[in-house]
Amino acid sequence: MARVNVELKARDPNPEVTAARCLNLGAVAAGTLRQRDVYFRARHGRLKLRIQEEGAGELIAYHRPDGTEARKSTYVRAPAPAEVGEALDAALGTTVVVTKHRQLLLWEGVRIHLDEVDGLGSFVEFEAVLPDAGDLETARAKVARLRSELGIESDALVAVGYADLLLDDPQVLQRAAFEAMERAYAPYSQFKVGAAVRGASGAIYAGANVENVAYPQGQCAEASALGALVAGGETAITAVAVVAERLEVCPPCGGCRQRLSEFGEASTPVYLGPTTTTLGELLPGAFDREALA
Ligand code: THU
Repeated sequence: MARVNVELKARDPNPEVTAARCLNLGAVAAGTLRQRDVYFRARHGRLKLRIQEEGAGELIAYHRPDGTEARKSTYVRAPAPAEVGEALDAALGTTVVVTKHRQLLLWEGVRIHLDEVDGLGSFVEFEAVLPDAGDLETARAKVARLRSELGIESDALVAVGYADLLLDDPQVLQRAAFEAMERAYAPYSQFKVGAAVRGASGAIYAGANVENVAYPQGQCAEASALGALVAGGETAITAVAVVAERLEVCPPCGGCRQRLSEFGEASTPVYLGPTTTTLGELLPGAFDREALA
């Protein structure tokens, strides 16, 4: 059965102070949890498998708009063994994995989460679960009260989920490119390259250069990554990362600039080692669809 809650999330520079304030308000400490959430490519809303301890898992499908106001989230929870994750990964593909340490406090039907998220930092999150927290209006009022009691400023509010924050992180894309680079097949040039593109769905597709004894048959890493994108059912990219083993900043070759431009916008970011550029900067005056038309 679908359930509803009201949520608010904010960055929290000082979790100890927040915990103390919550306890002062009468919140009850309800333990700490180590959670691993695997997000799959869903057609509607979001789908994640949450594993809290080996073997025991829960599949959670939910709809929640982005925004910094207290947001209504509708969700369905179903018990699921960890193997369900393998099946969903095979069928849908994984977009991102979020691991965190969560301290749980309970206050008037509101779950207060003090989260330490791997790669992202500390956050405080309120989840006013209906009907325990009252009706929708009461739940919103409780979240507003907690926000003001904890002194959470507007600029600390986070409009999206942890998964989205991680997906926006260039380092995640660069890591995928790096892992592909390590598997590159470059026995002739000894120049290993890895590339990763983010599809519009948020999923990452990576590829490596694949050389051949007949030299011109070799393929660049970018081309391999784009092949994976298309094979994965996508034709739009929102970011690119390229890494090479022997060069801190590996400029994509001219042909690959054209290949990448086919699927991105002039403003699409391209991460090259410590520098960030765009497809438009890499290929000004590109031959594009307009030129063809
Ligand atoms: N290479 C890429 O994979 N991408 C580029 O953008 C530049 C070059 C590869 C091709 C070849 O296998 C090796 O690097 C040396 O040219």
